[in-house]
Amino acid sequence: MDALCEAALRARENAHAPFSMFKVGAALEDHSGRIHSGCNVENATFGLTICAERVAVLKAVSEGARQFRRMAVAADTDRLTPPCGACRQVLWEFCGDLELVLVNPRGKTEAFRLKDLFPRPFDASYL
Ligand code: THU
Repeated sequence: MDALCEAALRARENAHAPFSMFKVGAALEDHSGRIHSGCNVENATFGLTICAERVAVLKAVSEGARQFRRMAVAADTDRLTPPCGACRQVLWEFCGDLELVLVNPRGKTEAFRLKDLFPRPFDASYL
């Protein structure tokens, strides 16, 4: 399994998911090859929960990264878990048509382009 998927699986171990028990990890590779990881962080108010993908993107942006190559998303499901709608919007904002690799702990993987999961996005070109 490649390093990005392994990083997503490792990040998943840090998930704070006491309410859903659904642990997710994400790993985002920037243009220099650096990997920024994230996990879901839940909150007792539920609505303030932040997904693993957004944690990874926001960590990367806050470290100054602006160009990205690929993201891996890890969850323990046989039907591989894709990013939610809110994450797709935020990924589009910062990463454009990113390559996404979904992975589970048994090594099953599947690759997508964000454009195919998120057709006709709203973005700054409409403003
Ligand atoms: N979650 C993610 O972190 N990423 C996804 O791609 C799907 C859902 C989290 C949010 C919440 O903590 C839990 O999984 C159940 O929805």
